[in-house]
Amino acid sequence: MNTATQTSPTLEAAVAAAEARFAAANPRSRARHEQACAVLPGGHSRQTLFFAPFPLTMQGGHGARITDLDQHEYLNLVGDFAAGVFGSTCEPIQKVVSETLRGGISLSGLNLHESELARLISQRMPSIEQVRFCNSGSEACLYAVQIARHATGRSKLLVFNGCYHGGFMIYGDKDPPLSIPFPLVKATYNDVEGTRKLIRAHAAELAAVVVEPVMGSGGAIPGTREFLQMLRDETRRAGPMLIFDEVMTSRLGPGGVQGLLGIQPDLTTLGKFWGGGFAFGAFGGASELMRHMDVSRGGLLSQGGTFNNNVVTMAAGLVGARDVYTPEACRSLNSRGDWLREQLNGLGAKSGIALQATGIGGVLNTHWTVGPITHPGQVVPIHAPVRRLFQLEMIESGFFVAQRGMINLSLPVEQGDLAAFVRAAGEFLTRHSALLPRAVVH
Ligand SMILES: Cc1ncc(COP(=O)(O)O)c(C=O)c1O
Repeated sequence: MNTATQTSPTLEAAVAAAEARFAAANPRSRARHEQACAVLPGGHSRQTLFFAPFPLTMQGGHGARITDLDQHEYLNLVGDFAAGVFGSTCEPIQKVVSETLRGGISLSGLNLHESELARLISQRMPSIEQVRFCNSGSEACLYAVQIARHATGRSKLLVFNGCYHGGFMIYGDKDPPLSIPFPLVKATYNDVEGTRKLIRAHAAELAAVVVEPVMGSGGAIPGTREFLQMLRDETRRAGPMLIFDEVMTSRLGPGGVQGLLGIQPDLTTLGKFWGGGFAFGAFGGASELMRHMDVSRGGLLSQGGTFNNNVVTMAAGLVGARDVYTPEACRSLNSRGDWLREQLNGLGAKSGIALQATGIGGVLNTHWTVGPITHPGQVVPIHAPVRRLFQLEMIESGFFVAQRGMINLSLPVEQGDLAAFVRAAGEFLTRHSALLPRAVVH
């Protein structure tokens, strides 16, 4: 399918040529996008799905493959930005959802699945004794922060530049207007001594330190053990809660990253795969802390939410986590991700091009820089021409990847699929070797 055989004199010219080929190959997606713009600002409801010149509309999927409106089939390496662990189809989940729907969509009461799912989560996630459900990871992060503010009687949060905790908690040099204006102290991810000083300096006012144990949208940057352990030790000394946002990272090990590292936060937020492919969020911790949610025993944090225990998510989430994404399946998927990361790093090393892949297990990000990446300040911006070119040409070759370079594996992705992707990435490096950033400048 790849027609990108000619080299262009500059990266920008190569991007323009790739965009022209993309537009010519996708007239139906383009028309759909243009119509959508009349009723949806920007033509969509989810910024991460947008890329220039226009996003593709998918009409269906099976296993690890998705098909767009213009009938191109892709290996889905976007993996719904880490939520799509089960792929587009997953027999046990589809079966339980059909059965559940036959039993009634709206029950106006507790259902048979929710306490089972809660039990499974508390068995798997080391820091969670009790958990509550909501409808998204964004909500879960807000709830966790409010529990911490209530329990400590303090208001400030220490957060990390580049960390993403959902649509209302996005932190960078300049926070987007949609971010809730909590009083903040901002630190640099993986900066052990700098962060330690900040925690000590603000100890009396900090309600929580909120962190992704592996930074996801910021570029799949793992927090070092030393860094995360320091956060644990310092918060214990100074009194703020330590909140691990494991909305994305809980897929990286059977007990999330906290299980892999043996570091337990006070509160954990979850989302994505735990809903079996449906809208989901959860937050939990020790019973002593979660008792604030128990109004029947004097807790003051009364939580509403019409769809918090919706029967489809609860049933799908339980079957997905219990029967499909078992600890064994989780380890196996993540070792496939480690293999892919090694291969991509090998391509960079062999070709002398500044390509590297970061992350842990099945969550990866390609980067076009040399040297260690420990915080997002070292990352080439999402819209850099090299990222756009790689995305458009991988799509042209039948591999659906995100513009920011993020790759999330799903269970149905096979070893042969990954090998084919590595070949296509290698061909990209050869095709554009004169334009791509070099690992060593001569
Ligand atoms: C670390 C992290 N926290 C929170 C969220 C928000 O979750 P949701 O998209 O379900 O609101 C995300 C979503 O990507 C995430 O990656």
